[in-house]
Amino acid sequence: MYDFDKVIDRKAGNARKWSNTVLKEKFGLDEEAIPMDLADIDFEVAPAIQQAIQQRASVGDYSYTYIPDEFYEAVIDWNQRRYQTTIEKDWIKLTFGTVSTLQYIVQAYTETGDGVLINTPAYDPFAEAVVHNQRELFCSPLINRNNRYYLDFENMESLMATGQIKVFIFCSPQNPSGRIWTKDELCQVAELCLKYQVLLVCDEIHRDIVFKDQVFTSIWNACPEIKEQSILCVSPNKGFNLGGLKTSYVVIPNQAVREILLEQLKRNSITSPHVFAVPAIIAAYNESEAWLDEMIDYVAENLQVVYQFFEKIPEATVMPADSSFLAWIDVHNWFANEAEMTAFFTEANLTMVVGSYFVQDGEGFVRLSIGMPRKLLLEALERIETVYKRQKN
Ligand SMILES: Cc1ncc(COP(=O)(O)O)c(C=O)c1O
Repeated sequence: MYDFDKVIDRKAGNARKWSNTVLKEKFGLDEEAIPMDLADIDFEVAPAIQQAIQQRASVGDYSYTYIPDEFYEAVIDWNQRRYQTTIEKDWIKLTFGTVSTLQYIVQAYTETGDGVLINTPAYDPFAEAVVHNQRELFCSPLINRNNRYYLDFENMESLMATGQIKVFIFCSPQNPSGRIWTKDELCQVAELCLKYQVLLVCDEIHRDIVFKDQVFTSIWNACPEIKEQSILCVSPNKGFNLGGLKTSYVVIPNQAVREILLEQLKRNSITSPHVFAVPAIIAAYNESEAWLDEMIDYVAENLQVVYQFFEKIPEATVMPADSSFLAWIDVHNWFANEAEMTAFFTEANLTMVVGSYFVQDGEGFVRLSIGMPRKLLLEALERIETVYKRQKN
């Protein structure tokens, strides 16, 4: 029903990924480059969201706003309907993006020098939230077994047992691999946090894009006991592509825990919401589920195209993803180092993210963002093939 084949002019919207200035200055590429770096999608936003924003814009009043009950109802309903998670209005706090919220969380619940745990490879802002605030970063590397990531519970426990770790920033589903953690794995994470009194900050931003044959479990459904000792970070920005509205929300059931973050947000004047974000999220959650489901199927097909394509390149191994629109590819048999990898993609006129961006343990990998119209994806893959063949000859 929706046209995901439609190529829209993302340069017209100053999309960061497509900006000619960024392509030139950051990647040394020309205007014809196809960007595959940033984790956003290249489809037109769901019609209901566009209409909601246009309608709100037509009011002609963009001053400070108040969050209507309709917003909380939409959020509560979405969490219940799609994730079978029962949440209450008081638990929800709208914030200005997950990335900045992670900074506030680290500031609120830890002191200088305290430890914060993450699993690596990790989305770099997880580490930035720790080191920018002079906290100590503890990394527990994921285990890559048969081209699939697993949590190293023994290692995580040994780190928590030091008593230094106060907060665990956990990514579920995982970026960059798209790995969905099983109920049992989530339970073990929660139990460790309970045992060592570590606050679990669960970033579920990628959960909106789960492929049909996969089962995603939200953290509190795996282990209800962790509810009192955790923060759920949610955002419409991946599934509905609303990153430019700079809005996300946290859900914190425990009142004492919640008040600590609310104080920190108050100190930083995180008050009135973004004027267009509230109607956009309402329209996303109440009216765009069918759009999202179709988009997920389209992206799943894109991934199949990517898997098939890389079968032609024996030096590359794509890690099968359970969710999201990212292809995480092991290229250590292909490129001797990241300079070589970068040179290859520059020659192909494509952008990508080098594995070392992901804090640690990502070296030898490349991440390609593949949530794009098929035509663009095929063109990008063709460029890879051309350069690959050229180099082989
Ligand atoms: C794991 C993870 N968390 C957070 C974000 C960004 O969230 P937001 O747009 O709400 O700041 C991303 C974006 O790629 C992400 O991958």
